[in-house]
This record gives sequence, structure tokens and C-alpha cells, in this order.
Amino acid sequence: MDNFMFYSPTQFVFGKDTENEAGVYVKKFGGSKVLIHYGGGSAVRSGLLDRVKNSLDKEGISHVELGGVLPNPRSGLVYEGIELCKKENVDFIIAVGGGSVIDSAKAIAAGTLYDGDFWDFYCGTKIEKALPLGVVLTIAAAGSEGSGDSVITKEEGMLKRGAGSDLLRAKFSILNPELTQTLPAYQTACGATDIMAHVFERYFTNTKEVEITDRLCEAVLLTMVKETPRVIEDPDNYDARANIMWAGMVAHNGLVGVGRSQDWNSHAIEHELSALYDCAHGAGLAVIMPSWMEYVYEHDVMRFCQMATRVFGCQMNFENPKVTALEGIKRFRSFLHSIGMPINFEELGAKEEDIPALVEKLGIGDGKRGGFMELSSEDVSAIYKIAAKASV
Ligand code: NZQ
Ligand code: ZN
Repeated sequence: MDNFMFYSPTQFVFGKDTENEAGVYVKKFGGSKVLIHYGGGSAVRSGLLDRVKNSLDKEGISHVELGGVLPNPRSGLVYEGIELCKKENVDFIIAVGGGSVIDSAKAIAAGTLYDGDFWDFYCGTKIEKALPLGVVLTIAAAGSEGSGDSVITKEEGMLKRGAGSDLLRAKFSILNPELTQTLPAYQTACGATDIMAHVFERYFTNTKEVEITDRLCEAVLLTMVKETPRVIEDPDNYDARANIMWAGMVAHNGLVGVGRSQDWNSHAIEHELSALYDCAHGAGLAVIMPSWMEYVYEHDVMRFCQMATRVFGCQMNFENPKVTALEGIKRFRSFLHSIGMPINFEELGAKEEDIPALVEKLGIGDGKRGGFMELSSEDVSAIYKIAAKASV
């Protein structure tokens, strides 16, 4: 196991009706003028936004609001939010929504206390200051409620890029599984795929002897394999929703990746798809991740056998381990298909002729991207080609 530092300072408040305590936690963490940031309307329609406002009013905390965050959030609204926060002297931001809303709120939090263009942070400039942030989560997916990351798309060139800092970790995150019961099945499945992908990005490691994190990863994956079909079948299954919501946090606050090298190439390869086609991130991952697996599995066949046997219940073929590894990947793709995810370019709405442009935008050039297996532009092109034609 490698040396590591693990920092997850967020106070998680989990369970039914907990959104009504938002005001209490804003007060606890020193907020007196709040920006409520939300998305395209689901939080308004469900009455959640009103409940959050009421809880702030109850604590005597004044607030302004900015809605309209799109999935794959854009820089335009971030600039608007920064202006609003400066004009209104906002000292705390509360994100009511999913990864897109939270990521937009994080960008506003850092941009408000910065003299330059907030996009600098998405081009590598270190974040030195950020407004404190709280979350009321409405979809189990991105894990932004526990992570220090934010992913934003710049309209000019449709560049989708990430920024990261412990300063972007939420002070508190309210996780009420009931809030996810209004999700369309497709969004639930996209979220489940993203959660599994966050674990796999950490599971496929070159670090040896990491039993504890291997087993934690497998626990999250097994939970997702069990609970996702249950919520697709019965969207009101609170306990299954609860397990998935906590799995989404555990998958991405860093816990299951400590002390081991990680990959993240599937995420980078996917981000070009959601930037170009504006598809859901989880749907893009369903197309890319099994294809990435098929391309790299020979780098460490036994690790793929471990996934196949422990997570997908495959029988180990000791004479020919590659058979087991490939069977595990096949079962992963079939699982994604069974929960309604696209598994190839056509189902996603992507075009094979765009592959050279996708590879170009990823920007590897003549070099290589590090990870479980280092990838050149040619490798990425080959992965997109597998993804284009994948079937179950
Ligand atoms: O905008 P509204 O009306 O709220 O609708 C949203 C949106 O259309 C809807 N929705 C959310 N909660 C709902 C609901 N509809 C009904 N009932 C509810 N309770 O779901 C749609 C998707 O929401 P979004 O926030 O986009 O989903 P997700 O949480 O998957 O976030 C995706 C974004 O997060 C980024 C992705 O790249 C993508 O931009 N990621 C962020 C990460 C991070 N910050 O750590 C890591 C991830 O790997 C990921 O890259
Ligand atoms: Zn993701």
C-alpha cells in the first residue's frame, strides 16, 4: 500500500426529511447571506426548493437564488452566479440538485473570491480561496457531495474540464434518499453507472497488496449490482435508494481509493462524449468503460479475474484466465444494458466519424496519458472504435 493522506471534512446528514435542517447547518457553518443554486426545475416541482427556503427563513438567514443549471453545467451560468454573489455579498452557497448543480456551485464558490477568470482553475491554476458550500442532494451519481472536484463545460469550444481542491469539499451534505424517488429510471441508471465507474477507476490499480480498499470497492460494486435493479423496478423502494445514495458518496469521496494508484482514463474519454453530444455522463460511461476494459485487460488479467469472480459471480477458469476476465467484462456490459443504459455509439447518439475529433480534443497528442495502462492517442482511438460497435 502506498502512503496517503485522506481528508473528508464534510458533515453528512442522512435520512428522511433532513432537507428541513438545511438552515440549521448553514448557520452552524457561519452562513448569513446564502445563494441557493439549483437546476432546471425538478427541485421546484417537487417542492424541495420551498422547503429549503423555509428552513433558511426559520433561522433568519437571508437568501438569493439562481436556477437553470443544465446537466453538463456551463460556464455562462457560473459567471452569472459569481456576479450575483459579489453584488449581494453572499457568504455561503447551497446547491440543491445533482452533480451538475453542485459542480456549478463549486465553480461559483471559487470564482467569487478570485480576481481573474474562474476558468483558470479548470486549466490548472490552484484554488486558494472559496466560499463555503452546502449540498442538498437529489440524485445519487456524481459523488460531488463528498468530493473536492467540479466539472464544467466552457461553451466556447465545448471544453469539458475538471478542477479539484479540498476547499471545494462541502461543509455539509444533506442526503435524503426520498428526494431521489422522483428521478426518471434512465437518470437513476445513469447515476448507478457513474457510481460503479468511480469505483472501477480506483479498482484497476497497479499497486499491490491493497486488500482493504479492494474489498471496500467490491462491497460498493456488489451493492450497486443488487440494489439498482430493485429501484428500476420499484422507484419508491426507500431502502434500496438509501443504499445507493450512500454508495454514491462512498464511491467518490476518496475512501475506496486511498493508498493505491488509480486510472481515470474512462472518465477522460467519456467527458469528450458528453461535451460533444451533451449526453448524460453515466450513459457515456456505460458505452466507454466496458470497452476500455476489453482493450486493457491483458495488462493484468488476474485483476480482471478478481472482478469477474468476486463481483459478477464468474467461475474461475484456471487453465485460461483470459476467458474469466472477458466473461466478467461481458457480464458488466450486460448488467448496464439490463438497467437501460446504452452500450454503443448508436444507442448513445454518437457518431463513429467523430472519433478523430474526439481523440484530438482529449489532447494526448504524441504523448501518453497515465493510469492503469498508459494510453496513446492511437489507444484511445481503438477504445472509441470498440465502443462504437459494442453489443451484448
Ligand atoms: O435540472 P433538474 O431539473 O434538477 O434535472 C436533473 C437533470 O436533468 C435531473 N434530476 C436531478 N435530481 C432529480 C432530477 N429529476 C427528478 N428528480 C430528481 N430528484 O437529473 C438530470 C441530471 O442531473 P445532473 O446533476 O446532471 O446529474 P449527475 O449528478 O449525474 O451530474 C452529472 C455531472 O457531474 C459531473 C459529470 O461530468 C456531469 O457534468 N461529474 C462530477 C464529478 C464530481 N464533481 O466529483 C465526478 C463525476 O465523475 C462527474 O464527472
Ligand atoms: Zn463520474
